[in-house]
Amino acid sequence: MTVEARAAELRDQLHHHGYRYYVLDDPELGDDEYDALLDELRTIEAAHPELVTPDSPTQRIGGEPVSSLPKVRHEIPMLSLANARSEEELRAWVARMRAHLAREGIDDPAFEFVCEPKIDGLAISLRYEDGIFVQGATRGNGEIGEDVTHNLRTIPTIPLRIDDAPPVLEVRGEIYMSLKDFAGLNERRAEAGLSTFMNPRNAAAGTIRQLDPKLAKDRPLSMWSYGIGRVDGLRFAGHWEALEWLREHGFRVNADVQRLESEDEVVAQCLAWQERRGNLDFEIDGVVVKVSDLELQRRLGVVGRDPRWAIAWKFPPTTKVTTLKDVMWNVGKFGDLHPFAILEPVHVGGVTVKLATLHNEEDLARKDLRVGDEVIVLRAGDVIPQVLSPAPHAVERPDRADPPRPPEHCRTCGTKTVKPPDSVFTKCPNRLCPERQWQLLKHFVSRGAMDIDGLGEKQVSQLQQAGLVTTAADFYRLTAEQLMELDRYGEISANRTVQNVADSRERPFGRVLFALGLEEVGFVTGRNLAQRFRSIDALLAASAEDIEQTPGVGPKMAEKIHEQLAGGQMRALIEDLRAVGVSMALEGPPPGEGPLAGKTFVLTGTLPDLTREEATERIEGAGGRVTSGVSRKTDYVVAGASPGSKLEKAERLGVPVLDEAGLLALLPHGAPPPSALPPTRP
Ligand code: IVH
Repeated sequence: MTVEARAAELRDQLHHHGYRYYVLDDPELGDDEYDALLDELRTIEAAHPELVTPDSPTQRIGGEPVSSLPKVRHEIPMLSLANARSEEELRAWVARMRAHLAREGIDDPAFEFVCEPKIDGLAISLRYEDGIFVQGATRGNGEIGEDVTHNLRTIPTIPLRIDDAPPVLEVRGEIYMSLKDFAGLNERRAEAGLSTFMNPRNAAAGTIRQLDPKLAKDRPLSMWSYGIGRVDGLRFAGHWEALEWLREHGFRVNADVQRLESEDEVVAQCLAWQERRGNLDFEIDGVVVKVSDLELQRRLGVVGRDPRWAIAWKFPPTTKVTTLKDVMWNVGKFGDLHPFAILEPVHVGGVTVKLATLHNEEDLARKDLRVGDEVIVLRAGDVIPQVLSPAPHAVERPDRADPPRPPEHCRTCGTKTVKPPDSVFTKCPNRLCPERQWQLLKHFVSRGAMDIDGLGEKQVSQLQQAGLVTTAADFYRLTAEQLMELDRYGEISANRTVQNVADSRERPFGRVLFALGLEEVGFVTGRNLAQRFRSIDALLAASAEDIEQTPGVGPKMAEKIHEQLAGGQMRALIEDLRAVGVSMALEGPPPGEGPLAGKTFVLTGTLPDLTREEATERIEGAGGRVTSGVSRKTDYVVAGASPGSKLEKAERLGVPVLDEAGLLALLPHGAPPPSALPPTRP
């Protein structure tokens, strides 16, 4: 096969698998395999730049920044929509259409309606020439928008090419950010001391107009397609058929779009969408109802910018005005003081809101919120309620309170607070602060850390309040008798908890490091530090430069980890944990050694006893490696109940498949020597 043919084949495969993954949410390949294909294509393109095509999946990333956003004229204007805010207004719209058509000589038209969610994002138009995505533009004023092709290319739900396409096709739809991605983005921005976005729509709009596509790439956007602009050489009977065509040609069309025959059904559907609104992972502000038949659309025409054949049923708002009663401060795991708002209770977005997050003090200052102000509160979907801004008139009050400030002394432990120059948070520097300890203790017992069953948020509070637990080492000194004196503990649950605590002494060293609650040490860094230093003594003796040699650890991180490990309270905790018998060293062979050294495993399905993390730890503890995608290089696939397509793939490639017992037999503790391993493929 020529390189040219191979490049074309890779593009086809990547195109198909990207569609499976992003549009259908039903991947056939593991991430590793997809990446391997992409890498191969990149390598070919680097050696043969003339083979790069505009629809190549490599063109989604790494585009150069543009110097401005040129204007684009829409050949077919992008319209807007008239609103209906009640059932009466919706029925009046249908009556107006009937009257209009009667004047045109069409009596008693049989309407076919299409109901679609009205996505709260921004409208864009994508232009395809001979099936290749060539240009994308914002709506702008409906006639002239801005060229944002460079950013739209980074959005995986936008096809870069379509098969069996007409010579010219414009696809229209809405760009949006999911609520989850929005919350994550704001959290990262707040942590970094940047301004937060008001809502997902602002975040999407701000992102799409950036000049540098790398920014768009880091802020996950998505698209729902809902219509067609210009199209040459293709005719549809109605809007419904157009949506079906789009869906079949790789565009993401909402699966819950409905085709309905009567006005009553339309009303019922609008109300149903209103109910479902809070369960979606993207924001909708209404339902768009369209007449499907294109001939009727043409007859109905447009008034101003609004087509007569469509209407937006608008939902009640998810923002409300209420009074900011107070600003309070939570202490986080690392001592950070997080402001939050105490509100006059208000009903918004389907629930009563009394508390709302304020992110950090800079965010608070930027919004210029004062206690006593009337403020605008937002709640949408699962997003934590937020205070957006003071109500416009609130800022004019002459007797406004002073801006809220973080407390000079921690409310909980009274320690003088500090504001480190490199942090957006004022901090309580006392690791033993009971509120901070509560966060640290919760973290210590949590799943990725020491994973102590039966100890959660409530139990940790209870133990703290009873004076039984101050630091994490105290968990290991609890007795069943002590627990039985507390509410909600019986003999059985008390004994079980004590046993679970005792069992956690043997957690792998990496998890212990994570459980300590060191800033910058997450689960993966904990594991990497454990692999590199192998014992707490080696880590405590290490310099910042030594720590920096750990994979994934940069100089700043290393400095910070080193500094924290040197702290007196941290040293005391470590010694205390050692004294109560918590294992503080890596067991098993050093990397590259051990019975499974050089062997690659892929896990799929649910194993009877081991969780995925446990199985990974056991394999890595014996020197093996766990990856996510099956390839010819995989030595074993370990399959449990309801395995995915990975099992089929393993069988197809002839990779040996093990069950849990088969895996355990490979591991030390009574495991056979390496020579007794089942044969891998030649
Ligand atoms: S159709 C009829 N369909 O709403 C032509 N628009 O208020 C108008 N929108 O600019 C567009 N979801 O940004 C249509 N399913 C949907 C929509 C939708 C959201 C937005 C779009 C448009 C605005 C009009």
